Amino acid sequence: MRKTLIAGNWKMNKTPKEAIEYIQLIKNQVDREDVEVVLCPPYLVLQLAVEETRGTHIKIGAQNMYYEDKGAYTGEISPMMLKEIGVDYIIIGHSERRSIFKETNEMVNRKLLKAIEHQLTPIVCVGESLKQRQEKVTIDYIRMQIKIAFKGVSEAEAKKTIVAYEPLWAIGTGKYASKEQAEEVCGAIRKLIADLYNDDVSQQVRILYGGSVTSKNANDFFTQKNIDGGIIGGSSINEDFISLVNYGH
Ligand code: G3P
Repeated sequence: MRKTLIAGNWKMNKTPKEAIEYIQLIKNQVDREDVEVVLCPPYLVLQLAVEETRGTHIKIGAQNMYYEDKGAYTGEISPMMLKEIGVDYIIIGHSERRSIFKETNEMVNRKLLKAIEHQLTPIVCVGESLKQRQEKVTIDYIRMQIKIAFKGVSEAEAKKTIVAYEPLWAIGTGKYASKEQAEEVCGAIRKLIADLYNDDVSQQVRILYGGSVTSKNANDFFTQKNIDGGIIGGSSINEDFISLVNYGH
């Protein structure tokens, strides 16, 4: 049985003061034993978030990291630093990192290997553009992203890696994929993992959907056979997150 995971990717939102007020407001209402809830605030808030959620089931993730332990990499944050302050999850290869900050598939692969080395649970993001969907190359494109991302990842580690399917055209647009579209791609990702590894690995890997998920459509996505939860942007930074996490209730 794969446990449902809901990750809130706050992106570049909330000052430390705003973040603490928000966490205090929501923490007791998003604390479900049967759902893994992960908050991914900006770096500056991570340590405060770890402290503020202590004693709950809520876990903390970072939105990015560099693929070296330390050194002359001005402006970067290493997995060791994240680990030491109590961060457990790491988002890797979000489409905004890929498009705005020019992260390549090879960088995503290096980050994934590094996260594994430091026992951070990776959430690897993949997804197609509108043009790719229209040209019907969605599955081929995602297959390529996943193949490169997982290069050198052992079977044991692949099982623990989380994949997030985020169609670019659905991010922050309010235009979410239909549950059938999301399920089709998440199913294809599971099949690809089975091809790369085996059925056992593919049945254990959790696959999330992301892109304009709100409390209104969460239940539709999270009850699909191959969708094990979601990665949430806009609805993770306001009170809608409370109803969203309590989907199905
Ligand atoms: O990582 C979450 C994300 O990119 C989706 O954002 O605002 O469409 O929920 P949003």
